[in-house]
Amino acid sequence: MRSDINYHNWRYYVLNDPVISDYEYDQLVAQLKSLEKKYPQFVTPDSPTQRIGDELTEGFATVEHKLPMLSLDNTYSYDELREFDRRVKKTTGETEIEYVAELKIDGVAVALRYGNSLLAQCSTRGNGIVGDDVTTNVRTIKSVPLKLLGNGDLKNIEVRGEVYMPREEFEKLNEKREISGENLFANPRNAAAGSLKLLDPKEVTSRHLNIFVHTVASPSSKKYTTHYQTLLALKEAGLKVNDNMKLCNNIEEVIEYCELWVDKRDELEYEMDGMVVKVNRFELYEKLGMTTKSPRWAIAYKFPARQATTLLRDINLQVGRTGVVTPVAILQPVPLSGSTIGRATLHNFDEIKRKDIRIGDTVIIEKGGEVIPKIVKVVLDKRPKDAIPFQPPKKCPVCGSELVKFEEEVALRCVNVACPAQIKRTIQYFAGRNAMDIDGLGIAVVEQIVDTGLVKDYSDLYSLKLKDIIKLDRMGRKSAKNLIDGIEKSKKRPLHRVLFAIGIRYVGIHAARLLVERFGSVDALSKASYEEIESIPEIGPTIADSVLKFFKDRRNLNILKKLKSYGANLERKEERKGKVLEGKTIVVTGALKKYTRERMKELIISLGGRPSSSVSKKTDFVLVGKEPGSKYEKAKALGVKIIGEVEFLKMIEEH
Ligand code: IVH
Repeated sequence: MRSDINYHNWRYYVLNDPVISDYEYDQLVAQLKSLEKKYPQFVTPDSPTQRIGDELTEGFATVEHKLPMLSLDNTYSYDELREFDRRVKKTTGETEIEYVAELKIDGVAVALRYGNSLLAQCSTRGNGIVGDDVTTNVRTIKSVPLKLLGNGDLKNIEVRGEVYMPREEFEKLNEKREISGENLFANPRNAAAGSLKLLDPKEVTSRHLNIFVHTVASPSSKKYTTHYQTLLALKEAGLKVNDNMKLCNNIEEVIEYCELWVDKRDELEYEMDGMVVKVNRFELYEKLGMTTKSPRWAIAYKFPARQATTLLRDINLQVGRTGVVTPVAILQPVPLSGSTIGRATLHNFDEIKRKDIRIGDTVIIEKGGEVIPKIVKVVLDKRPKDAIPFQPPKKCPVCGSELVKFEEEVALRCVNVACPAQIKRTIQYFAGRNAMDIDGLGIAVVEQIVDTGLVKDYSDLYSLKLKDIIKLDRMGRKSAKNLIDGIEKSKKRPLHRVLFAIGIRYVGIHAARLLVERFGSVDALSKASYEEIESIPEIGPTIADSVLKFFKDRRNLNILKKLKSYGANLERKEERKGKVLEGKTIVVTGALKKYTRERMKELIISLGGRPSSSVSKKTDFVLVGKEPGSKYEKAKALGVKIIGEVEFLKMIEEH
């Protein structure tokens, strides 16, 4: 029964591929428990029932590591990786070096000792020489086998690995802590470290920690001559090895693999902070040797950090297009993954309250998949004594009218339709790049034309005259002329962009396209019934409701009437074309100006193309931004077409 249950544990926790239901599994464990209760003389330390120690540990004993737990040298650029490769070749006298590239898991380093195939001791790195004995806690991690499988090749080994907390568990844990008023963990790594040091193993169990094993520390069994073989053997023995690794023939292949993961890191259910590159052949290790801190046969390639600590100087209030008042954090500027961050979103006032964010606080900020950074938590130890909780506003910071909180929403709204802030944001939205794309209509111009009463809604843009614009602050004749031309040009934008630009709630550019395909004109859409709209695949009740509501509002109808009289395009004129990127495979590399890479991928898909993360002969073209990586080199080598962002945008314009 024990080996049965251990087998199912392995299927579930290591392979993520269970062969029985949770219920059946629980039944098995319950049976074993009751048997062991009846015959306690047969309880063994590797029994699956022994994962959760019932007694409380008093602090932690210290463990002296048999071999020091080293760390790795870090590199931050591909050139430094190439430099590492040159060093390895020089020291070993080899001309070709094979490497294994692995994910660098962002967790807590642990050493696991097995004696006679049984899990004997687990320890943290500590200072590298002595660490904490966390055996009881590591035993709660279900993917750690209590007994190794197989023929006993590896029965007396010490392996090194990384204990981590899956992102989802981390979010759940922090949510719970928020509710109970406990201090938040800054990231999954801190949460994993905190959990490993808990004194109650039952509590540790509830944290759902996990592990990846990545290295054998001792002994290097004679049978295996390469690191890659060892990883496969560890897996065979039932240890959890990360499948995302690659045996590479040279450093360029390593770089290519790194590049792949820079793009894909957000898809993982755990955090990684870079790649670890290891020489594959063990016979070279001795020649390479080590420094006092790290071996010379491995190196880490670190991805740019995503968190930083800074001071929250102020909280500003912004009124959006739909009247929602959003708090924005004004930060002491800090560099973070390639840019300087001076602002962060705070989403809403509930969030400020939940996270107890106060002006003057030191905060940890994070730049994740999204472009705008967010505040993760407050460093409470650094809070100034006089910091007072932030009070949500009662009045609109722009027009002064009372703010309203609708029952189903968390947001505070200014419901004054004449609020200048809303008008300005609506105009900016209308003129935006995905919408009417009016060049030269920056925020400074919008502020002035609304404040001086020249423009009361976006349709008034088309009544602007050169003489009005020239009078504006810091506006030369040439830029005024450009703006007038830009406004005129925008009358020719295709209908779906107009439909997007007029700002019907929930109607994004994709929905706008679908609506145009079905109805062909704003007029027809304004007369459509709920059922007609909702019957379009991909259009749901929320959009259908919102469209109906929009066309019921007299003010909107008036604006549309004005738009029409000024000659804006309210009907589909163009012949229906196939999608511009139909069937094309496109790779995006480097930093783009106008879109994030994620947004660009969505755009490519919406135009019928297929974004891909690696360049091959089948790639139709590579879209190259600033500081492109090895994909750019590869495209050149393969003779794949390379185009820049501006050229690309031209190509898809009007679609
Ligand atoms: S190999 C001799 N492989 O990163 C050191 N380490 O900065 C062998 N880490 O101490 C380490 N993922 O805690 C290795 N796939 C991986 C890793 C990994 C995460 C951690 C580990 C190490 C630290 C080095």
